[in-house]
Amino acid sequence: MQEKKLWQARFEASSAEILNEFNSSLSFDIRLYKEDIQASIVHAKMLAKQQIITKTDFQAIEKGLLEIKSEIEKDISLWLEKNSQEEDIHMAIEKELTAKIGDIGKKLHTARSRNDQVITDLKLWLKYEIQNLSELLNELRQTLVEKAKQDIDIILPGYTHMQQAQAISLGHFWLAYENKFVRDLSRLEDSLKRLDINPLGSGALAGTSYPIDREFTTKELGFKSMTTNSLDAVSDRDYVCEYEFIASMIMLHLSSLSEEMIIWNTQEFNFIEISDAYATGSSMMPQKKNPDIPELVRGKTGRVIGVLNAMMMTLKSLPLSYNKDLQEDKEMLFMASDTVKKCIRIMIDFLKNIKANKDKMYSSIKNSYASATDIADYLVKKGLAFRDAYSIVGELVANAISRNIYFEGFSLDEFKAKSQLFESDIFEIIKPETCVDARDIPGGTSRKQVKAAIAKIK
Ligand code: ARG
Repeated sequence: MQEKKLWQARFEASSAEILNEFNSSLSFDIRLYKEDIQASIVHAKMLAKQQIITKTDFQAIEKGLLEIKSEIEKDISLWLEKNSQEEDIHMAIEKELTAKIGDIGKKLHTARSRNDQVITDLKLWLKYEIQNLSELLNELRQTLVEKAKQDIDIILPGYTHMQQAQAISLGHFWLAYENKFVRDLSRLEDSLKRLDINPLGSGALAGTSYPIDREFTTKELGFKSMTTNSLDAVSDRDYVCEYEFIASMIMLHLSSLSEEMIIWNTQEFNFIEISDAYATGSSMMPQKKNPDIPELVRGKTGRVIGVLNAMMMTLKSLPLSYNKDLQEDKEMLFMASDTVKKCIRIMIDFLKNIKANKDKMYSSIKNSYASATDIADYLVKKGLAFRDAYSIVGELVANAISRNIYFEGFSLDEFKAKSQLFESDIFEIIKPETCVDARDIPGGTSRKQVKAAIAKIK
């Protein structure tokens, strides 16, 4: 017969094997071991300070916990195997501690429940993870800014409805994505306001009758403040949802960027060249150079958004306070966080390993009617009402299409036949460079404005 569990004092029979397996979270919450040990040491230190345990108890507990930490770090799979019967990381560590230091180990859980323990660990982990993710996002931003600097003078069509709309600088395009990731960074920073609050001391649900010092653990663990309602604290997983929402948002941004790269890599567009090391081939069709990286990033977006959905469904209608459903938070959170980090990492490398096909971009914009608005604006600046100018240019477009030419294919007389306001400078106006630089207002695509935008970025 198996040994009784730590919580089995009132039970006569031991658990069914199938329950043990179903109930166990050790295989994934092992990822919290560092935070669990850190929080346990602080908890024990506080207990000693408050004379709930002795100083010698604390010293033995701290030493034991640190030993466990190095054992886990030495061989994590061996440690997991040894503790495979334990329900979760908290039980496993406590059990190991008692095996190591004897009865003193049994004092660690005084004035604490796994319900406040697990969220203390999770919040510490998430704080650290937000820092990692922010660093990666900043590296991605940096990469986009570098590309923007490099590609300011490359001109390509900008699209609306996937229709060539107006000429833009490629630098402006890269900065558009940089702007999106800036917002994601600020979301991460903002989420700390609600995350960085110490729940330790909430106990199982109602607090504790021991004279603990929550200010002390808050400070020692590096939290900004502490929770003010134990019932809310042990049930709150808002911060998990918020993180998953931000991860989803980042994935949406990465996925749109990926989609652009996939389109740009088609033979039809041919706007970019992917370096061989970052493209894949087909096992059957030798001519192919596939954009697997952005396709996978686009594909993985689904699972991250799925996690947010799943977490919200898990939380839906849960009554106060702790319910075992809440154990479902971790596996999904870890997966979402791993995925978003992996995708950012590879997008950084991917972006560094593509080259803009400048000539193809330029010929696309040149062989288009994307200067139509500029021609209308030209007439407006000479006194025509915009609507009238718009219809003159509409006629020019229809005429050009029927003759299979672009605006530069018209003679000045042909322009003048539509409006006497046209002069020879119209040929300058319709050049892609002129069109780009004409949009010289803050936030616009003129090369001067793109440079100014880059200069403003910290
Ligand atoms: N493994 C549990 C979780 O992840 C820890 C808390 C268990 N609490 C309890 N009352 N059974 O949520």
